[in-house]
Amino acid sequence: MILNTELEYKGNLFPSKIISYEKNLNVLSFTTENGVILEVTVRRDSILRFRFTTTGIFENDFSYAITKYASRGYNHLEVNENEENYIITTSKLICHISKLDLRTSIFDAIDNTLICEDELGFHWEESYEHGGNIVKMSKISQPGESYYGLGDKPVDNNLKGKRFENWVTDSYAYGRDTDPIYKAIPFYTGLHDKKSYGIFFDNTFRSFFDFCQERRNITSFWAQGGEMNYYFIYGPEMSDVVVNYTDLTGKPHELPALWTLGYHQCKWSYYPESNVKEITAKFRELQIPCDAIYLDIDYMEGFRCFTWSKDHFPDPKRMVKELADDGFKTIVIIDPGIKIDMDYSVFQEGLEKDYFCKRADGPYMKGKVWPGECYFPDFTKPEVREWWSNLFKELVEDIGVKGVWNDMNEPAVMDVPGKTFPNDVRHDYEGNPCSHRKAHNVYGMQMARATYQGLKKFSYPKRPFVITRAAYSGTQRYTSSWTGDNVATWDHLNIANLQAQRMCMSGFSFIGSDIGGFAEQPNGELYARWIQLGIFHPFCRTHSSGDHGDQEPWAFGDTITNVVRKFIELRYQLLPYLYTAFWRYAEEGIPILKSLVLYDQEDSQTHYRNDEFIFGEKILACPITGPNQKGRRMYIPRGRWYNFWTDEVISGGQELWVDADLDSMPIFVKEGAIVPKYPIQQYVGEKVIDELLLDVYYKLGKENSLVYEDATDGYDYIKGRYSLRDFKLLGKKNELIIQQHKSGKFITTYKTFKLSLHGLPFKISKVQVDNEEILFKDIKLNGDNTLVLNKEFTELHIMA
Ligand code: GLC
Repeated sequence: MILNTELEYKGNLFPSKIISYEKNLNVLSFTTENGVILEVTVRRDSILRFRFTTTGIFENDFSYAITKYASRGYNHLEVNENEENYIITTSKLICHISKLDLRTSIFDAIDNTLICEDELGFHWEESYEHGGNIVKMSKISQPGESYYGLGDKPVDNNLKGKRFENWVTDSYAYGRDTDPIYKAIPFYTGLHDKKSYGIFFDNTFRSFFDFCQERRNITSFWAQGGEMNYYFIYGPEMSDVVVNYTDLTGKPHELPALWTLGYHQCKWSYYPESNVKEITAKFRELQIPCDAIYLDIDYMEGFRCFTWSKDHFPDPKRMVKELADDGFKTIVIIDPGIKIDMDYSVFQEGLEKDYFCKRADGPYMKGKVWPGECYFPDFTKPEVREWWSNLFKELVEDIGVKGVWNDMNEPAVMDVPGKTFPNDVRHDYEGNPCSHRKAHNVYGMQMARATYQGLKKFSYPKRPFVITRAAYSGTQRYTSSWTGDNVATWDHLNIANLQAQRMCMSGFSFIGSDIGGFAEQPNGELYARWIQLGIFHPFCRTHSSGDHGDQEPWAFGDTITNVVRKFIELRYQLLPYLYTAFWRYAEEGIPILKSLVLYDQEDSQTHYRNDEFIFGEKILACPITGPNQKGRRMYIPRGRWYNFWTDEVISGGQELWVDADLDSMPIFVKEGAIVPKYPIQQYVGEKVIDELLLDVYYKLGKENSLVYEDATDGYDYIKGRYSLRDFKLLGKKNELIIQQHKSGKFITTYKTFKLSLHGLPFKISKVQVDNEEILFKDIKLNGDNTLVLNKEFTELHIMA
């Protein structure tokens, strides 16, 4: 263990002075007298990779996190030296490397501000137990510096003053500050002097981050093996840091089908078939929109993956079809543990083909999960992933399952210390054989990847849908995720809010929580407040454990049912808005939720805010997080905002009281925004959209808004069959001008827009479309400040 070694310096070894330097295009190598090599790769003007070896030889350069699609290339690269330093200059940053000991300092190339500087810098301890090194890095925390990111940590947004561990862990009923939990995303952003940078420590061993906890002005990170291998990503905008990290570790390989952004209902477990049907029928009867229904482990025969319980689900194909006819997509759980059972074909095949993980001395890795004793596929082997992906043929192609939920993939093992594999288990790691110490954090990721490959293959020409519990950096390329086994308490509503925001600023936007809480039972008020939050999360699913009572939207009486319906309906109305945000995420890496600090880092008021967040680009939301509340105080970021419910305009940059009875919550829309809405549907595709509602929020000045649409599923959008509308709004005292630029070849089903004008400061007396004055009767100007017009316009003038 290395706890406190930073303090004691016991056993720490350090690089000595540089004796040689080599430049190979964008790769710069510095060798020290004691045999340490630092390799700096200039990936982009704003991204440097730092890699150290203490043996004179680098390991095979392989990473599960970095995508081959990451952008590369820079505008400028120059290396100079003075007496003390080598100096690397790109168009965005300047990096000094000390000739004495390899310590680095990085500056903004434009104004020379110091951004990030090593304290001890790279150092290491040799590990007698495992061989290799415990690799360490420490940096000086700049005055007033704040820290954000690290994935699913259940703590306040700003990480300063805390220490964290990255080791994916099954964490039933975790709580605030429990660490580590299900995911390992060793990426953080630092922010000081209005400038932000990020560090991605791409090391899959158990790793640690200390943000000024051990020492007040020092931030450090270390791992129990592997290389000191990290990427420095410069902003100075935090949003650029996140975008560049996401570019490096990958954006989702495709857009999710629109239905996956609808509401999902889950429980451990809905069975038998009649129970599933009762639930789905109730949704339709009560007219509460829902797109997906989940089958948890009890649908299987003795928890054997890829089987069905004959008693409970005698004819799955028929059932899945009947559900589909009613608009429900069936999603099933698949865990990694394969039951040891010689009569079970998946087990037999895995055994025959030698696909299961083994211990160091040869026995199989045997562990207990839901089915009892199991073996576990080694998902770090490409051949095993290929096999696994093919196991989905029947489920998806034949039975018609539309999505797969991967759980217990930390991997979780019951009744053993550490709740997972022992360290000595062997893995292929893409032909770089290693122990579980190195493969643990990516095991779940590789399982989700194999599942994704199967879904992609057998869902074709539709898009795949996967959900995973465990994840490492880069997992967002393949799958969505949820935050695991939370609890039905008010504090967990807060935690869910923090986790979703944090995952979004860690490159992983397709995230949600078990709405209402997995363990224990919420009361109606907590459930309703959680739904209000949940409809603003990219993945929106109620899930709960069966032994704690019912948790469907109607389980808490009519008042609550009505509130829940109202908010799920709002989710469905906002689908084109959310889909556009998703498109921006998949296209550009822009997070779907933005914590206020990510939205406006220049306003130092945002640096410690937790509850408020921006949904997409223009909507500000803030959940009510306690019982019996009729509203709350919240911080409104700078700018002017419309209260979503009342259209009252308020100025931001201040904390305010906002009313929010149980059937309401604080929601604001940025002035100048154009928010697209669909009619309420019980499921995506229920209705042909015959008019697009555009909520237009008047602003004195300019604002841009985008609306992205396509066929809602399939791959035609990649061939250009999408519709992207870029609206430019310009508000003047007596006039509102909207220009529309349309691109893409997709033809939407609707012919008209219905504009709903909010906050217009004048009475309309004239409307001009594409230079022609339009008679009121042609545009159907309604008394309520709505007007209907042809979707093809390029320039609209609404005049006093
Ligand atoms: C785990 C999952 C939970 C699931 C249960 C049974 O606890 O996190 O979502 O319902 O296992 O499969």
